[in-house]
Amino acid sequence: MTSSRAAELRNLLNRWLHEYHVLDEPSVDDATYDHAYDELVELEREHPELVTPDSPTQRVGAPASARFQKVSHLTAMGSLEKVTTEEAIEKWADDVRKRLGDGASVAYVLEPKIDGLAINLTYEEGVLARGATRGDGEVGEDVTINLRTIPAIPLRMLGSDAPRLIEVRGEVYMPLAGFRLLNERLVGEGKKPTPNPRNAAAGSLRQKNPSITAQRPLSFWAYGVGAHEGAELTSHWQTLQWLREHGFPINPFVERLETVEEIAERCRAWERRRTELDYEIDGIVIKVDDYAQQERLGALHQRPRWARAFKWAPMTATTRLEKILIRVGRTGALNPWALLEPVEVGGVTISRATLHNEEDINRKDIREGDDVIVQRAGDVIPQIVGPAGRHKRGTKPFKMPSHCPLCGVEVVKPEGEAMHRCPNRACPSRGLESLINWVQAAADIDGVGEQLVRRLWELGLVRSLPELYRLTKEQLLELDGFGETSATNAVNSIAVSKAIPFRRVLFGLNIPDVGWVTAQNLARHFGSVDRLAAATQEEIMECEGIGPERAEAIAEWFADDDNERLVAELRSLGLRFEAGEEDRPVEGPLTGKQYVVTGTLVSFSREQAREALEALGAKVSDNVSKKTTGVIVGESPGSKVAKAEKAGVPLLTEDDLKALVGEL
Ligand code: IVH
Repeated sequence: MTSSRAAELRNLLNRWLHEYHVLDEPSVDDATYDHAYDELVELEREHPELVTPDSPTQRVGAPASARFQKVSHLTAMGSLEKVTTEEAIEKWADDVRKRLGDGASVAYVLEPKIDGLAINLTYEEGVLARGATRGDGEVGEDVTINLRTIPAIPLRMLGSDAPRLIEVRGEVYMPLAGFRLLNERLVGEGKKPTPNPRNAAAGSLRQKNPSITAQRPLSFWAYGVGAHEGAELTSHWQTLQWLREHGFPINPFVERLETVEEIAERCRAWERRRTELDYEIDGIVIKVDDYAQQERLGALHQRPRWARAFKWAPMTATTRLEKILIRVGRTGALNPWALLEPVEVGGVTISRATLHNEEDINRKDIREGDDVIVQRAGDVIPQIVGPAGRHKRGTKPFKMPSHCPLCGVEVVKPEGEAMHRCPNRACPSRGLESLINWVQAAADIDGVGEQLVRRLWELGLVRSLPELYRLTKEQLLELDGFGETSATNAVNSIAVSKAIPFRRVLFGLNIPDVGWVTAQNLARHFGSVDRLAAATQEEIMECEGIGPERAEAIAEWFADDDNERLVAELRSLGLRFEAGEEDRPVEGPLTGKQYVVTGTLVSFSREQAREALEALGAKVSDNVSKKTTGVIVGESPGSKVAKAEKAGVPLLTEDDLKALVGEL
């Protein structure tokens, strides 16, 4: 009676685990699972003879001795020959066809190449008997006790037709969400974070204490078999279905294709979509489907002729951090950035990367002179992930300069803020940076970017907004790289940008503490620059979200003769200083919702994020309050996160934002 109840519980629990971790379709809630699990633990405690190796209570076993045992794989675990271009895929497919003889029809299976580590699971009579790392392909290490802790790996195969023996091969990996949590925890405990999910997975599997492995969020995809007795397997595609039916997780994106054109098209599509997955992939594996054909093709130095790994250029690389330099932004914020020894990352040569602030640099533990790991996420600004290996001799932790590198005025770091600031309103950096802000954010001028603005500034051609609007085609033609068409286009888009709404003009004027949101509030409240310029501090304070200090700074700005001249000049050049229809709030699906954006976003500027939300009717504000619907958190966020948590306001990610504004 007890023994059949134990068997029943084992079967139930194993089925529920499979539903949860492999199928992603749980049929019971956690409490039901826990209840059954506790019952089984109790039964096994009273009747130790009932404990079987496939019991879910046996996932965490006794710690291993000092070293892992070596084990020979029954058949060798090969590796894959790489190809990096579509031409190379075509050439390989031609070779396959030639070797198989004219007229052979060849089908291929495509699988994501998971960036984890290959393992070999040996099942005897359907029960997991041994699990080993790949090692050198012939001999690996026995990490069974650790593999048993991975919920996606079946301890017993499903179905009643288990073969006498089978080696199941696949990749153990760490999902990105779990990887981030693990690193947060490690950093919280004062330990070093792991550089990437693959290292994290490998390190977790080689833990001497399986209860540590059990806490690591590891998962598994099966992608093939080795030796087997008692299973009829005739093609790779059929094998994958067979493995799925027997309880193994098979990646949902595997597909069977018949033409090389389709293969190339899928590889291209995957390069764009790879960052949407919750795990890292570093390419696509292409395998000839039919086993008889695979056998005829054979292998060369353990690399099968029937398969290729199509790999994209890696998104991370190691290089030397030459220097940490400071750029003073248009509001006086000191932004550190990294000058790197040039290195190719994902097909692009990079020589600089953003660093956020002093705290962030020291938290990542990076120093001038170190070798560092750089990463390009999507198509954006490269980031430094952390040091590659130990610090070089003689390197020192980074310290922000005590004085502004441009004007020499002592920098300040306001309480509770992560950024150091140059308090000097006349600091020369601000002119250039506000021009850059104008072309990139306020006016967002097509085809006129930071580089051009820097060149024009250095040549003395454009040192102010009116000079930008007076720039001629002839002046541009003098510059290297400009021809008739490109110069005409640039001058035209500058002219077109005169039509931007009043609130954007206000934002771009670089009035102290007038960001995107305040500019919008001011434009709506006063309706024109004349009314705003004539307003007293008290009148400005009547506008939403503006306190006495900001009101005073704004009034002072308009009282300044130079600024008055600037406004008059821009007005005579045709810019808009009256609020219009476009300055009014929009009605849309997000009307009534209120968001705050903090930190650096990867695929939007903060202004673009605000525009996108506002275009759907949402309100975007600078301050977190009980009315805030959600706070969108980018990299290196400020104190707003803590405020949101305190106020019980939900934190959203950049992906949530993309989903909100439908920009995936
Ligand atoms: S098949 C003989 N399929 O890539 C073929 N490998 O260089 C053996 N990998 O060590 C491997 N995803 O760690 C295969 N869908 C997949 C894979 C895959 C990742 C890894 C695996 C292997 C390496 C081959």
